[in-house]
Amino acid sequence: MDLGLQDRVYLVTGATRGLGFASARELVAEGARVIVTGRTDRSAAEAAERLGEGAVGIAADNADPDAADRLVTAAHDRHGRLDGVLISVGGPPPGSFESNTDEQWRSAFESVFLGAVRLARTAAGRLGEGGVIGFVLSGSVHEPIPGLTISNGLRPGLAGFAKSLANELGPRGVRVVGLLPGRIATDRVRELDALSEDPEAARERASAVIPLRRYGTPEEFGRVAAFVLSPAASYLTGVMIPVDGGVRHGF
Ligand SMILES: NC(=O)c1ccc[n+]([C@@H]2O[C@H](COP(=O)([O-])OP(=O)(O)OC[C@H]3O[C@@H](n4cnc5c(N)ncnc54)[C@H](OP(=O)(O)O)[C@@H]3O)[C@@H](O)[C@H]2O)c1
Repeated sequence: MDLGLQDRVYLVTGATRGLGFASARELVAEGARVIVTGRTDRSAAEAAERLGEGAVGIAADNADPDAADRLVTAAHDRHGRLDGVLISVGGPPPGSFESNTDEQWRSAFESVFLGAVRLARTAAGRLGEGGVIGFVLSGSVHEPIPGLTISNGLRPGLAGFAKSLANELGPRGVRVVGLLPGRIATDRVRELDALSEDPEAARERASAVIPLRRYGTPEEFGRVAAFVLSPAASYLTGVMIPVDGGVRHGF
């Protein structure tokens, strides 16, 4: 199947490592051009270098109110078009309802929530028919994850925002999708496992409740993202797609 990604242009935030990077890599492998972001010039430039021809790195913090406009403008200035965005970002800090501070809530809201809203809104203003906005969210959209209270609080709201956007942008032929990773082996998940006294045992316990009995690889996530963002997925919108090895209990 031809995904139809040749020469299309995508902006992928939070893409110097992890899920964003893996998604950008699959997009580039299919012939797309990508702008990848991270918080520093160095991390963004190194990621673009690893991705090779077709990739440009730009430093931008999703919490920065100017980032969305700057990035969408950069895509147009460099390539004369923008076909889609995938919004990933560093995960919110772990903690319980008692331990998470106002400052942690506020800063996670700025980067994870408002940053995504702004990027989606700005991109929506520039995307034409066939454009797509993807959100990297979490399984916490459907089921709270123990020890990730801020994620449990913010992600369902973002899924609601994505769903509204799908309704509002659908008549213009712009699609909106959410991706819900379960446990994909990235730095983020390694850091979460490392909070436990025995990270290897934590990984085994978590794997034991996944029907496929293992963590996913970033490549497995990236391939789903590339398909969902591609013209091959042209009738897919308003959906939250779990990429979790079957761990979600409901349908
Ligand atoms: N991995 C999983 O299984 C999983 C499961 C559920 C949810 N998620 C969520 O999916 C998202 C991505 O996860 P991941 O595993 O790829 O995380 P990761 O391995 O920690 O990578 C995070 C990426 O985001 C960038 N970043 C961090 N803060 C940023 C900011 N404020 N603005 C722009 N870029 C920023 C980092 O680059 P720099 O350091 O260069 O800035 C890095 O490229 C997170 O929100 C995470 O909570 C992941």
